[in-house]
Amino acid sequence: MRNLLITGGAGFIGSNFVRYMLEKYPDYRLVVYDKLTYAGNLDNLKDVAQRFAGRYTFIQGDIADAAKVDEVMREHEIDAIVNFAAETHVDRSLMGAGSFIQTDVYGTYVLLEAAKKYGVERYHQISTDEVYGEIPEGYSSVETDPLHTRSPYSASKAGGDLMCIAYFTSFGVPVTITRGSNNIGPYQYPEKVVPLFITNAIDDIPLPLYGDGRQMRDYQYVLDHCEGIDVVLHRGQPGEIYNVGTGVETQNIVMARRILDLLGKPYSLIQPVKDRPGHDRRYSLNCDKLKALGWESRHTFEQALEKTVRWYVENEWWWRPIKSGAHFEEYYTRQYQGREI
Ligand SMILES: NC(=O)c1ccc[n+]([C@@H]2O[C@H](COP(=O)([O-])OP(=O)(O)OC[C@H]3O[C@@H](n4cnc5c(N)ncnc54)[C@H](O)[C@@H]3O)[C@@H](O)[C@H]2O)c1
Repeated sequence: MRNLLITGGAGFIGSNFVRYMLEKYPDYRLVVYDKLTYAGNLDNLKDVAQRFAGRYTFIQGDIADAAKVDEVMREHEIDAIVNFAAETHVDRSLMGAGSFIQTDVYGTYVLLEAAKKYGVERYHQISTDEVYGEIPEGYSSVETDPLHTRSPYSASKAGGDLMCIAYFTSFGVPVTITRGSNNIGPYQYPEKVVPLFITNAIDDIPLPLYGDGRQMRDYQYVLDHCEGIDVVLHRGQPGEIYNVGTGVETQNIVMARRILDLLGKPYSLIQPVKDRPGHDRRYSLNCDKLKALGWESRHTFEQALEKTVRWYVENEWWWRPIKSGAHFEEYYTRQYQGREI
């Protein structure tokens, strides 16, 4: 594998993965293919474009556009695809599911067709722990568990996963899937909970916390996730699924308080708001299968959160223009206005 197509590479995890791969594999060439939706941002890759000019190409395009995908596959002699491209925000999927189905299901199908036609060495799908649905205390999901999706986002992601397995089973496309837990780290669009809370706290704006804040999430540092994807891309078995997470759960209210502690701000900034409909209480992953390939999460929750907070404090140039933009403000008002409890 030498010429990798990284779809959705201008988003949060994708851009971290692109930087990680170019640093780690000096003989790889990466083509980032991204539609640049509200969540895609070339600022995420600004340093990459400068540091790796000869081995990095950016192409703006939609994964659901079969003709354009075909052209890119041919012209860049792509031999592996890693698909990060997706509509990713649960709250937005509750406002309208159409774009989620179009990108996360139909777009995945278009990429799988291209993978089949060009006989790639590997098609890797980035999926999520949310496909397992809400998990009872005392249990952690394994890869063979049935899918119990509860939001239009997770249902769309599950649709993509199932299509991947179908292309492996029916056509022998060498597909692998990773299902990651919640990521935190640099370049996460600030409508997602952790960067939203950090940037609000910096500006002394209330932190809108859903319901009682007792939802349990496994927050992992984005580069740990990227390493897990790398391991599966190179050492995972085609047709197989691998969970990626820390196995350590944190309640959202604990995460919010920790952010305030790190920034020296009062807990009174926490503003409870009406819970998200169908909000999953708990996710938990068993990651033994990936660990058996030699992967280990490197950051504790504390370390991951500390690094993340520091990055947002030091990189206001990145998030201030997003938060002061009309697109963000329109979403924020629609999502949170009048929701206080
Ligand atoms: N963020 C998390 O905590 C998390 C956890 C587990 C899995 N995932 C999965 O990881 C992947 C990346 O998530 P993220 O948080 O980086 O998302 P993100 O929203 O930050 O980025 C998504 C990227 O995909 C691009 N995109 C959207 N629709 C597209 C289309 N039709 N064609 C081409 N590009 C398109 C966007 O422009 C953006 O750059 C997603 O598949 C997501 O489901 C995310």
